[in-house]
Amino acid sequence: MPPVPIKPDIYWIGVNDRTSDLFEGMWPITREGISYNTYLIDDEKKAIVDLTKSLKTDEFLDQVHQLVGLSELDYVVVNHMEPDHSGVLRTLRRVAPQVTILGTKKTRDMLEAFYGVTENVRVVGDGETLSLGERTLRFFSTPFVHWPETMMTYVEEEGVLFSCDAFGGYGALRGGIFDDQCTDFGFYEKEALRYYVNIVAVFSRPVLNAISKLESVPISIIAPSHGLIWREHPERIVELYQHWAGYAGEPGDVGVTLVYGTMYGNTEEVMNAVAQGISDEGVPVDIFDARRTHVSYILPSLWTNRGVMVGAPTYEGSLFPPVAQVLSMAATKRIRNKTASHFGSYGWSGGAQREFESFVEELKWEMTEPFEFNGGATDEDLRHGEAYGAQFARMIRESA
Ligand code: FEO
Repeated sequence: MPPVPIKPDIYWIGVNDRTSDLFEGMWPITREGISYNTYLIDDEKKAIVDLTKSLKTDEFLDQVHQLVGLSELDYVVVNHMEPDHSGVLRTLRRVAPQVTILGTKKTRDMLEAFYGVTENVRVVGDGETLSLGERTLRFFSTPFVHWPETMMTYVEEEGVLFSCDAFGGYGALRGGIFDDQCTDFGFYEKEALRYYVNIVAVFSRPVLNAISKLESVPISIIAPSHGLIWREHPERIVELYQHWAGYAGEPGDVGVTLVYGTMYGNTEEVMNAVAQGISDEGVPVDIFDARRTHVSYILPSLWTNRGVMVGAPTYEGSLFPPVAQVLSMAATKRIRNKTASHFGSYGWSGGAQREFESFVEELKWEMTEPFEFNGGATDEDLRHGEAYGAQFARMIRESA
């Protein structure tokens, strides 16, 4: 896509990535894609804000070249060092050695560690300003949104906030880059939530700190480094992020995430009965087959629902591994304050419940009575499964 003006002489020069299968090497984006939003300010001094992943170097340099010569560039603002925003830096330094790189103290250290770059780097402090001519940049330190070195850059005269990972989302841009051009907001909201929980949720407290820090700053445009640019309703994405960050300290919505796995269908048969019981109580339930669903898509449901039901048989004395992997990632992402239960089939000695309990302890979740059954489900097991689901759903509803 060619450069797009977001304000006079301020341009989006980003790139879409529709060929990477995995973001951060682990989160699927094959169907959704992602954008690396980069911006160019064409003032007396010329500055690029945020960069892109190295595999998009040619496309990025072409974007710049459509607006200014590389030898005319004065500054590159590195809001965040993760290589999806800095990967092009080594090449850029070679083709435009005169550029001064701006970032926090920690950015300076990371520039050396990641790229061996030590020359022509200028550290900017929290609240510091830099005149480009007609415009003034102000830098806000916002550590841990997403890494410790992260900052945001604000154009004072026009109220444009370059927020980097904050307020971003998965999903390549579909021609229109602005929120008011978006005809499928549901897609971008869903993908922004998935991105939030996959990437940012562990840092929810820093997200809330950053939002409070920016409260007094008039914002006309939020220009993140991934996803839509918010010019009609910048407050919309801020409110969503604030809302999602709030789940870090509370149980969540009335709803159940039912994650299951099965080897030969016995646990799945009871899972259907359990789901029936939950639905009978009018409580929303999201069902995920852990064998076939990447945890990236399960995490948003775990983050937002207060109830978690885990259907997993015993496998070699342990919890069925595809399900265990989901709980392990939930622990990595510090998903807390849930109420959980486990049901599943065992062949002889069991063991799944024991491992489930150790996960629950690590996750600091509340646990309810398990329901394990031997071998295949009997009619009585199925009746019990439905009652078990209904009882759990009532407890979740009444806990709100
Ligand atoms: Fe988009 Fe933390 O990188």
